[in-house]
Parts: sequence; C-alpha cells; structure tokens
Amino acid sequence: MPAYGIIGAQWGDEGKGKVVDFLAERADFVVRFSGGNNAGHTVINDKGEFALHLVPAGIFWPNCTSVIGPGVVIDPAALLEEIDILESRGVDTSRLIISDHAHVVMPYHVQLDQLEEMARGDAAIGTTGRGIGPAYVDKIARAGIRIGDLLDAEYLKGRLTSVVASKNLILTKVYGAEPIDLNALYSQCLEYGAALQRYVTSVEQRVSDALDRGERVVLEGAQGALLDIDHGTYPYVTSSSVTIGGACTGLGIPPQKIESIIGIYKAYSTRVGAGPLATELEDETGEHIRDVAQEYGATTGRARRVGWFDGPAAAHTSAINGFTTAVLTRLDVLDGMPSVQICVAYEVDGKRIDRFPSLPGFLARAKPVLEEMPGWTTPTAGVTELAQLPKEALAYVNRIQEIIGCPIDLISTGPKRHESITVQPIISDR
Ligand code: GDP
Ligand code: IMO
Ligand code: MG
Repeated sequence: MPAYGIIGAQWGDEGKGKVVDFLAERADFVVRFSGGNNAGHTVINDKGEFALHLVPAGIFWPNCTSVIGPGVVIDPAALLEEIDILESRGVDTSRLIISDHAHVVMPYHVQLDQLEEMARGDAAIGTTGRGIGPAYVDKIARAGIRIGDLLDAEYLKGRLTSVVASKNLILTKVYGAEPIDLNALYSQCLEYGAALQRYVTSVEQRVSDALDRGERVVLEGAQGALLDIDHGTYPYVTSSSVTIGGACTGLGIPPQKIESIIGIYKAYSTRVGAGPLATELEDETGEHIRDVAQEYGATTGRARRVGWFDGPAAAHTSAINGFTTAVLTRLDVLDGMPSVQICVAYEVDGKRIDRFPSLPGFLARAKPVLEEMPGWTTPTAGVTELAQLPKEALAYVNRIQEIIGCPIDLISTGPKRHESITVQPIISDR
C-alpha cells in the first residue's frame, strides 16, 4: 500500500498536471496508466512552465520514479522529443521507466486518425489527431506493436510485415492514400527501440514491489471521466478507460492497493472537441471565462468550450469512480464575477431530470436547470489558507462538495505549484 488515484472528473484539462506536481513531493512513484500524447498536463514550478504529454508530472521531483505504464499508448517520436525538451531545460529524466507492454502509436495511426476524422465530416469527434484511437483499436484487435517488440529485430520484422500489409489495404483501397514503405518503417522502429531501450523495463514488478514496501504511488490519470470509452458521452469520447478501473488494468495493480481516489474538478466546465456540453456558455460570460483563464488546449492549442459547473455530470463521475476525496481547481478564474451558477438538473423534453443522461441525443436536448449564487469581490487568486477565502467563494465550494458527495481536500487558486489551499492533506506526512 498505498496508491493514490488522480482522476480527471470532467472532460479533461481540470488541472491534473498541477495537482500531481504538487502531490508528488510526498510520493515515491508517479505513474501514467492510460491515454497517450493526446494529454497535455501543464506544470508551473521553480523550473519553469511545462506542457507534459507522456512524461508523468512527478519528473520534477528527485524522490520520484516516473513510470509510463502498460495501458498507455506511446508515440516514440513524441516521447523522445519530450525527453529532449525536458533535458535541455535542466530536468533530469534518468528516473523515467517505460513498460515493455505499452503499445506503440505508429505513424500510420496518426495518418488514419486524421483520415477517419475527415471522413466523418460533420460528425467528426474533434480528436487531437495524435493517432490515439487507431492505436487502441489495433491493441484490441490484436494487431498492435508493443514497445518491447521494438527491441526484438527479428520478431518486429515478421510482425510489422503482416500488420503493414493490412494497413496498406486500408490506406490505398479505402482512402486512396499512399502505401506505407515497410523497410523505411522497420528501420525507423529499430531506431526508436535503440533510443528508448534504456528506459524500458517490467514496470509492473517495480511498482508492485514498491507497494509491498509501503511506498507511495501516485496514479496520474489522463483525460476526464466524461471522455471515458464506457462512461463518457459516447461517441464523443477518447478510446481508453480513464476512470479508476483503468488504473488497475492499465498498470496491473489490484484495487485494494488504492488508498484514495481523488477526483479533480475545475470550478466550471470546459470541453475541447465535439459532443454535448449542457451548460455551455456561448455568450460574453463564456468569452470572459475563456479570456481570463486562457482556456486554450495544452496539446492542440484549440479554444476550449466553456460552461457553468455541471452538477449531475460531476455527481455521475464521483459515483462511477468512488471518489474518496476531491480537488477543486481554478476557483480564482471566477473572481470578480457578479454571480456564479451551478447546474443542478436538466430539463429534457419538458421533464426535469436529476441524473446525468449519458445518451448523446438526450443530452444534446438537455437544458440546464441553474442555481444562482452570489459572486465574490475579494480575490481568491493565490490564496493558501482556507480562512482567507471570501465567504461567497467558500459557499460555492461547499455547494459543489455537497453535489459530488465527498470532501474537497485541496483547493487550487492559481497555476503555480504552491497556489493551493490544503484543507486536509491528501498524502499524509511519513
Ligand atoms: P490537465 O490536462 O488536467 O493537466 O490540465 P491542463 O494543464 O491541460 O489545463 C489546466 C490549465 O489550468 C493549465 O493552464 C494550468 O496551468 C492551469 N491551472 C491549474 N490549476 C489552476 C488554478 O487553480 N488556477 C488557475 N488560474 N489556473 C490553473
Ligand atoms: P488531458 O489529459 C481534454 C478529447 C479530444 C476529443 C476526444 C477524442 O490533458 O486532460 P482523442 O485524440 O483522444 O481520440 O480525442 O477527447 N481529449 C481531451 N480533451 N483533455 C485531454 O487530456 C484530452 N484528451 C483527449 O479533444 O474531443
Ligand atoms: Mg490537458
């Protein structure tokens, strides 16, 4: 024991990177267990500002081993570039380890992601275009290449020959695209293998041994529960299991090793890409929040859609993950607003619905039932003590706590590591 699961509780970009960097001070391991470089986790600390895509946010702490687990899909070129950038900025990446079981995002996955999106036309999902969906499709279809395969030249040759033959049929016959050059791809894969070899190991064993020794393992979720393949707003979701169950399968740890499950909520809603967002603000208030918060994606730079806090959606993600505690981020973004609103139910086809309706057609027709609360004039930005929060901001935090049904133990009041109010330590002192 113990592992601590950090899970995005909305549509991603809740501030997981900031929270993991903050908590990792007391951790021995930080592990990514799902997704790929569709994630963009921003960290601002004494070393500068970083947008991490595959490297876990524990990388800045010398006490932490950073792990990319078997459930992650890895684009080797993207990972090598990220490591280079970190090293060039004085961050030591020698404590990074990578699972040999993690699947490789191949160049043809990136190409297929983009071709499939174009073919969807108006029904496009708005993916990050990083090849994540096609890589997970191949994993499940048993047509994937794993990181360990890049280190076995002979096996790789046979495997790649059969996979590329079937991909070429799709590329040329379905999309009229150029076929993949097998030899060029094979050489490229061997180069990736050689460059990554020093990081590759059986991470499951390392983490399991660490848990047996009582070390602390932070599980760094990517995306958000409403983008989960099973529990999100399907089909406008990502292609992996991003909830706490995904941490167990994506790393290979039993559930009883997880001491706390921590939901990361932003004080309002954002979403990048298509799909229903019942509380969306397509008006001046939405623009104001986007401007103040600089809501632009850390991966693609796209403007994020903005809306009020969605209570039923938040209660849904709390229930499916069993959050034992929560973190509320970006409270400071709402500073100075005359009033703030929370969605407490929806009205669909003239009927009030209190629970989150997951069917997309239904959700697209849902109108939010909003509860208005007074805003606050004293800023919360940078506040580090609960007692310094204006009473209206505290009332807002308490209302959200009531809706999600678990205590908010950390409130984030700015993007920097220490712009945080610890209500109750999430990871206790040793
Ligand atoms: P992640 O994907 O969940 O790690 O979140 P992102 O990094 O994509 O997006 C969160 C954004 O909010 C980043 O720009 C962070 O620097 C910023 N951020 C995190 N916490 C706070 C906060 O409490 N206040 C403000 N103003 N910004 C925050
Ligand atoms: P972090 O970890 C926000 C969204 C994409 C798109 C959908 C599917 O930074 O919170 P994909 O490329 O995964 O097939 O795209 O999921 N998406 C994210 N949105 N934050 C993320 O990650 C996301 N990862 C994927 O915008 O709508
Ligand atoms: Mg992000």
